Amino acid sequence: MARILVTGGAGYIGSHTCVELLNAGYEVIVFDNLSNSSEESLRRVQILTGESLVFIKGDIRNQHELNQVFDDYQIDAVIHFAGLKAVGESQQIPLTYFDHNITGSIQLIKAMEKAGVFKLVFSSSATVYGEHNPSPYNEEMPLSMPNNNYGYTKLIVEQLLQKLSQADQRWSIGLLRYFNPVGAHKSGQIGEDPQGIPNNLMPYVTQVAVGRREKLSIFGHDYPTKDGTCERDFIHVVDLAKAHVFAVINRLKQTGCRAWNIGTGMPISVLQIKETFEKVNCVAIPTTFVERRAGDLAAFYADATRAEQELGWKPQYSLEDMLADSWNWQKQNPNGYN
Ligand code: NAD
Ligand code: WQD
Repeated sequence: MARILVTGGAGYIGSHTCVELLNAGYEVIVFDNLSNSSEESLRRVQILTGESLVFIKGDIRNQHELNQVFDDYQIDAVIHFAGLKAVGESQQIPLTYFDHNITGSIQLIKAMEKAGVFKLVFSSSATVYGEHNPSPYNEEMPLSMPNNNYGYTKLIVEQLLQKLSQADQRWSIGLLRYFNPVGAHKSGQIGEDPQGIPNNLMPYVTQVAVGRREKLSIFGHDYPTKDGTCERDFIHVVDLAKAHVFAVINRLKQTGCRAWNIGTGMPISVLQIKETFEKVNCVAIPTTFVERRAGDLAAFYADATRAEQELGWKPQYSLEDMLADSWNWQKQNPNGYN
């Protein structure tokens, strides 16, 4: 079975993807600097699967460390999660984001080329569709400038990967455009563990539920949506993780560069998340409505038919599963991996 290098594999989506890769029989090498994760997630991945993986602590901006990995292990394909992802922070420290997300990706590509490894699956984001495309987003739409520096790094890396594959036919690149990943492994042993105050909705909700935060603030309730709050396309992290396995299988056979939306195609409102979470989990989420958050779009969701047609991937988990699994993880791990 093929051997997969997973950069950022100790993180939220990476750890769930390692479970799916190991369950599918792949060999897994994780390369992560642990700047936003803990080795504990990988220990638990190995317990859950009964399989072992190799962990290498390193930084994707470090060419020497990357070259060493490719010298030491024969790699068949790379899944590239490593990078920084906080939208607000990317506005404060853009250069740090350019360095990790753009320079880091270029260093990885250089190390791959040097080692003769040309199969890559990249963690992109729905943010590359920018502000002006109507939902549902499909992959034929022209991309446009995201309104924050984090999104900008995803757009740049997508574009340079497109150009690379046009110039050199040896490359086979998959761009997975994630919508809003939530949920956790059914066991509750691995999940999302943000540092400090969560930026994203779901970890904020679960931290209110577990008593770490007083109340949820809903940003805006005068949007042109069904209940006035923003609508998003929430996707279970296990479904998202499985999409990576399908993408690797596809890339091991194909060449070129291809993008796939990874979402459910169902717009779900912020209020619906709060209310369904309360109902499914029998726990109250004290809530207040506050001003809109700068930069938020009223609604966006995927047209995910291409992923189904070309990868054979289809989401399996319901909204109720997403909310029950998020809570199961948080309840069992009130302070995350600490
Ligand atoms: P995460 O922070 O949990 O995982 C990222 C991992 O990368 C962490 O383990 C971190 O320690 C590591 N890392 C960061 N910089 C590194 C570097 N320079 N060298 C080596 N390792 C480094 O985030 P996640 O939610 O699992 O996201 C994974 C990827 O998916 C990211 O590229 C993110 O931008 C992308 N993505 C995430 C979302 C989301 O909402 N979670 C949505 C769309 C795209
Ligand atoms: C969802 C909705 C908020 C927190 C971001 C990135 C995107 C992608 C996924 C990486 C919005 C509302 C939130 C809170 C709230 N990441 N909200 N109270 O903004 O859709 O997407 O994460 O690629 O690029 O931009 O996700 O979870 O931050 O917000 O009312 O305390 O929840 O206003 O409408 P978003 P989110």
